[in-house]
Amino acid sequence: MKDLSDRLLAPALPLLRRLDPERAHGLAIDALLLGAGVPPSRPKDDPALATRAFGMRFSNPIGIAAGFDKDARVVRPLAQLGFGFVEAGTVTPRPQQGNPRPRLFRLTEDRAVINRMGFNNQGIDRFTVRLARLYRDRGTRPGAPVGANLGINKIGAAPELDYPELIARVKPYVDYIVLNLSSPNTPGLRALQDSERLAELLAAINARHATRPPLLIKLAPDLADEQLAPVIEAAAQGGANGLIISNTTLARPATLRSPHAGETGGLSGRPLKARATEMLREAARLANGRLGLVGCGGIETGADIVERVRAGADLVQVYSAFAYEGPALLARLKRETLTILRELGVESLSDLKGADLKNNGGESR
Ligand SMILES: Cc1cc2nc3c(=O)[nH]c(=O)nc-3n(C[C@H](O)[C@H](O)[C@H](O)COP(=O)(O)O)c2cc1C
Repeated sequence: MKDLSDRLLAPALPLLRRLDPERAHGLAIDALLLGAGVPPSRPKDDPALATRAFGMRFSNPIGIAAGFDKDARVVRPLAQLGFGFVEAGTVTPRPQQGNPRPRLFRLTEDRAVINRMGFNNQGIDRFTVRLARLYRDRGTRPGAPVGANLGINKIGAAPELDYPELIARVKPYVDYIVLNLSSPNTPGLRALQDSERLAELLAAINARHATRPPLLIKLAPDLADEQLAPVIEAAAQGGANGLIISNTTLARPATLRSPHAGETGGLSGRPLKARATEMLREAARLANGRLGLVGCGGIETGADIVERVRAGADLVQVYSAFAYEGPALLARLKRETLTILRELGVESLSDLKGADLKNNGGESR
């Protein structure tokens, strides 16, 4: 049966790539729901890839980034494919349709994606029912840490009320929580990255939640350099546990060649890599060990993973490369990472954490 589903899925990939990208994404979710191409249990990871972050163990550091499974429909199959952790969402308090289609574009020539989905999702009620079922139906946890990425509705949002309420809804079920303050497609959302607003938001969360899973903040790569230090202070002093760096960018590098380069929305994939890495490195320097760091943006090789870890990442996430390559991406990333570790004579990927910072005189890591 498994062979059959593999045989069905592999030839379908080139076809999926030719379809309208949003339909292809829907079909990929359906295939995962049916278990097509999903091994019956998680592949065993080489111990050299294991790491600890946010008080948890991860058998490998590669997570699926938010936005792939907005409604928490395929958390378990994603874990079974071999992701080291799975982030579901962004989910908002009420269901919403998002922006009119087309709203998702492949920039094939640039190995990039532009999206202006606008938080299309089924809302927190259905999201939490699925998370509850995830544990109840099988009696076992999915085998990899699970996070919930939270956002606000386009209309009628009250962030200081909405985020604490969303946290209350998901906290029985997840291993970590992300405040998404960085989608470019929800007007006003990115203003919450302002350090005073962020301090207020975290105070409202702390007032309602004496205990909660680790809380991460997902930042935009378009933050000005001088904005980063105050955001990091507000996050650390407000009791946040980590940062995800980064979300998609509004920038359009002059190198883009695809005819879709002029579409409105957030750009992800290869053209985001340099900025996301640079911002991560700077954040690691500023946070100075106070916050866990998840590197995201343009990761598509084992060398990219090693580079992010050396720049200070505890964990990494991928989206665009997975959209282009499908599940084969995971085995390749792990294989390439292990080859680099062997070449360097390093026993464990986590031994390289923050290595660049140490070389530059950062004594504290
Ligand atoms: C189609 C699409 C939808 C996304 N939706 C979300 C989302 O709902 N919430 C979020 O925090 N990030 C979302 N993202 C951003 C990704 O999680 C990730 O931060 C970004 O794509 C950079 O990683 P990548 O270069 O590996 O794709 C989305 C990205 C894409 C391409």
